[in-house]
Amino acid sequence: MPRGLDRSTADLKATPVQATVRTPPAALPRRLRRILALDDFESAARRHLPRPIFGYVSGAAETNASLRDNRSAFEEFGFAPRVLVDVSKRTQSVELFGRTYAAPFGIAPMGISALSAYRGDLVLACAAGQANIPMIMSGSSLIRLEDVVKANPAAWFQAYLPGEPDRILALLERVEKAGFGTLVLTVDTAVLANRENNIRSGFSTPLRPSLRLAWDGMIRPNWTLNTFLRTLLRHGMPHFENSHATRGAPILAKSVMRDFGAKDHLNWHHLELIRDRWKGRLVVKGIMSREDACIARDSGVDGIVVSNHGGRQLDGAVSPLRVLPDIADAVGAAIPVMMDGGVRRGSDVLKAIGLGATFVFVGRPFVYAAAIGGEAGVSQAISILSTEINRNMGLLGINSLEEMGPDRLITLNRVGGGQA
Ligand code: FNR
Repeated sequence: MPRGLDRSTADLKATPVQATVRTPPAALPRRLRRILALDDFESAARRHLPRPIFGYVSGAAETNASLRDNRSAFEEFGFAPRVLVDVSKRTQSVELFGRTYAAPFGIAPMGISALSAYRGDLVLACAAGQANIPMIMSGSSLIRLEDVVKANPAAWFQAYLPGEPDRILALLERVEKAGFGTLVLTVDTAVLANRENNIRSGFSTPLRPSLRLAWDGMIRPNWTLNTFLRTLLRHGMPHFENSHATRGAPILAKSVMRDFGAKDHLNWHHLELIRDRWKGRLVVKGIMSREDACIARDSGVDGIVVSNHGGRQLDGAVSPLRVLPDIADAVGAAIPVMMDGGVRRGSDVLKAIGLGATFVFVGRPFVYAAAIGGEAGVSQAISILSTEINRNMGLLGINSLEEMGPDRLITLNRVGGGQA
């Protein structure tokens, strides 16, 4: 009998439990049947969405260097699996902010989702609620935050800070009154990013009516009829509803300007003000250094999201995965360290956890899934990712996410390998 093993007959019995069940293909709408992995949603969405809208979602800043790094960083790590471990009772459920979630991932905040998908924010919120994973609604959204929290009372709200304290406090009051328990402040947007790709593809907020835009819509009739015109007919022209305490600009207008306002003066004192007033859980998103992570922790926030905004802000900012171990080490167990950026596979989720993340968020694939398949599409995306995690945990020889440590990872770019 090998050392370290304590055999009892109970260890020899099979447990007839499969933790995650994939929706059988026959039960899915036709357009979802060929989707096997999260990346498949992107190619389907490229065919479904008008060019400016697909470009807005898929694109990043300037040369897309950060966008590429967000993916390639994951490829620099491999797994060191263990075998002949009883993994029949494995579970990917995870405790976060006093709640047990079904999986270690959630839906990242994405602005203007209701332009890509009919009632996009509601679709994302409902699918996440059904699956018992967190969904963060974006403050740059086109559906009133009050409606989204009604559809999913566990949803989190993400805000970009308005520039002036009275407007910050008015927004907080509205979010609190609506019933959100968790506020996410995105802090990596001191100035507007250089999204050249939006200019090249004809995307702007508001969208400017033009012959080219009309043509882009005409060659995507399914989106034009079932998303855009259906929204106009049933709900009127969408507006930015949640950037401030009051309604903002419409999504389509010839000359209206969106109120971006100056934000380059915002600093940690504004965070202190918010911590003082916001009684719910406070999460700061967009941390990329150990120093900022420690300031955030010492300012009393409840959690941080290590993120480069999906490569959409500072082009050349490294992948969050590269700074994650250092940040997790600095913060310790005081608060959860979450991350996002480039997570597309269950193996990516497990690598991020192995490098110190408590939880991860996924962006683009979920909005593509909502665009092509509505709530069923988002549920399928959740199911695919959670099935991959479940399978990989079995193949790695782990039963819980606590067992997923750096000892399970090998850094591939070192000659001869080595532990992460
Ligand atoms: C975003 N992201 C974002 N973040 C945020 O804090 N508020 C927002 O309103 C938005 N809006 C937004 C729109 C779209 C279309 C995308 C793709 C992204 C960033 C997002 O929350 C997240 O950080 C990244 O998307 C994660 O990277 P992946 O998973 O898309 O690679």
